[in-house]
Amino acid sequence: MAENKKRHLFAANWKMYKTIKQAVTYLHELTALIAQKQANDIYIAAPFTAINTLALEEQKLKSSIKIGAQNMSDLLEGALTGEISASMLIEAGAQFVILGHSERRRIFHEDNAFINKKVNLAFQAGLQPLLCIGETAEERKTGMTESVLETQLAEGLSGIKKEFGKNLIIAYEPVWAIGNGHAATPSDAEKSQLFIRKWLEKNWGSETAANIRILYGGSINSGNAKEFLKEKNIDGLLVGGASLTPKSFSDIINLN
Ligand code: PGA
Repeated sequence: MAENKKRHLFAANWKMYKTIKQAVTYLHELTALIAQKQANDIYIAAPFTAINTLALEEQKLKSSIKIGAQNMSDLLEGALTGEISASMLIEAGAQFVILGHSERRRIFHEDNAFINKKVNLAFQAGLQPLLCIGETAEERKTGMTESVLETQLAEGLSGIKKEFGKNLIIAYEPVWAIGNGHAATPSDAEKSQLFIRKWLEKNWGSETAANIRILYGGSINSGNAKEFLKEKNIDGLLVGGASLTPKSFSDIINLN
């Protein structure tokens, strides 16, 4: 009898990589490298231009991979040059959207109030939000980690109806661990993940909190992923660099 393994969520964050053609090739290769009957949930956050083609291709392949976006507008529609709305993403075939990634916060100056509007809108539109939170190196050094997480949660999730809550995904991504090969230690990550779980329990009740998946992200690769997946409050991984080839992403998925 196989042990009752936890169903993890593995999300690829492709960032600004991959043309439509490259994305389709990747999807075919990834589908061939992973088990047909997946014991995990697999998400790909693709560039806007590739979402529609990928979603259609995924339906043909029946790979049960969810295609999503990496950002969206905080408004339904309007004179907002260069922005993209929730309904446009849904029509293209997106099922989820990453919100509040530290690159959006840092480079594009997105604050918690702005991100909160997007989270609200995503829920109302029927897109599953994947909210990223995490402290900077400076904040960690000065002992601010938990207060930063608390503020990001309280402000980022302000006004979200409890019934939507269980469909939320959170990714704990310490900013100092992203894209540099220096992941947090699994036990340090677990400490923050537990803090997030406790906050959710306090604010939304233990049933809802138990349903919310809290991912870890930051320099995950096939060499370190297994230790993270052993932690009780790590329900999956958000993977940037190591998600860019089907081989390196499937090596992580196939660990579970
Ligand atoms: P990384 O990126 O895996 O390359 O560190 C993670 C992320 O930014 O989501």
